[in-house]
Amino acid sequence: LFAAVEMAPRDPILGLNEQFNADPNPAKVNLGVGVYFDDAGKLPVLRCVAEAEKQLLESPKAKGYLPIDGIAAYDKAVQGLVFGAESEAVTSGRVATVQALGGTGGLKVGADFLQRLRPAATVLISDPSWENHRALFTNAGFPVDTYPYYDAAARGIRFDALIAKLQAAAAGTVVVLHACCHNPTGCDLSPAQWQQIAATCAERGLVPFLDMAYQGFGKGIAEDGAAVQCFLATGQQFFVSTSFSKSFSLYGERVGALSVVCASKEECARVLSQLKIVIRTNYSNPPTFGAQVVATVLTTPALRAMWEKELAGMRERIKAMRSALVQQLQAAGVQGDLSYITTQMGMFSYSGLGKEQMQRLRSEFGVYGVDSGRICVAALNSRNIGPVAAALAKVMAG
Ligand code: LMR
Repeated sequence: LFAAVEMAPRDPILGLNEQFNADPNPAKVNLGVGVYFDDAGKLPVLRCVAEAEKQLLESPKAKGYLPIDGIAAYDKAVQGLVFGAESEAVTSGRVATVQALGGTGGLKVGADFLQRLRPAATVLISDPSWENHRALFTNAGFPVDTYPYYDAAARGIRFDALIAKLQAAAAGTVVVLHACCHNPTGCDLSPAQWQQIAATCAERGLVPFLDMAYQGFGKGIAEDGAAVQCFLATGQQFFVSTSFSKSFSLYGERVGALSVVCASKEECARVLSQLKIVIRTNYSNPPTFGAQVVATVLTTPALRAMWEKELAGMRERIKAMRSALVQQLQAAGVQGDLSYITTQMGMFSYSGLGKEQMQRLRSEFGVYGVDSGRICVAALNSRNIGPVAAALAKVMAG
């Protein structure tokens, strides 16, 4: 049966963890996967999460099956966060939200639902994009193409080319967009550019699918959600996947969601019924604990305030690491404009280094980043930043 099964390549991001763990180099630094570590190099347990967990464990609940679409209070809290509790789409009941297994799970439920609706549609992802976008939509059965995004020479966005690609796309084309903190480049669209993209999608009858995995890591919770408001303002139907892995430091709990904005409450009920079939035939229903924690934090004012402060703390520490990296690179003799490091948003810096340079960083210095040149600045700290900057400087010098 398995004689002809080929060995699959390692995952380009999660596979790096396997390689990192096997590396005997005592000075190794993992800047591969998008995970926030504190200045002590530890994965933080947020205080708001610890407090919510304590409350939940004080009155333990029996572990029955959840509804297929998850905890109702959680889904409602997600809608409040992503769209605004008072937004017309939410109050008129035309947003279908389901709990999902992380942001990836939200993307997959949406992809499987879309595949039933539009089996022949093309999916457009940004060039470059998170490696798993292409794999996930390909595995869901779609042809995947790209739209121009990153301008390597200007370290900016090829916005005119992006719009031209959308204008030329066939109606029904699915367009996957990073709502904030673009992964891997850290180059985000301006509010005016978002408006133009939303208007183009509406005019051309495209299907926007926003991936929002890093809300709060760019400028702030509301600011990072501005793209969603641009799409809401056009009145079109669209998808949003949400992840709380990073913003709550709950990676292993797999807490995410998929929201589908529909034209009416009646349409929303039909869409929700189909999303439930996708979920039921994949994993039946979601797990309880992580979503209970997130719902508790989001709906308890004191915990919510604590979360916003802790999220701001993570965001600010990443910014401080960006500035420190620039200083250390300059001190190590790297010439030229390094301001891109401080203007990029979110957890990543897109270094511009090629695959061979990234491999050299790994083999010679034990510094692990993704082959695309992406390094996770959220994993830098006051101890590892010096050696990382020194290694980068050497590799940049060639
Ligand atoms: C990343 O891009 O590193 C994260 O989103 C983690 C993942 O699942 O790839």
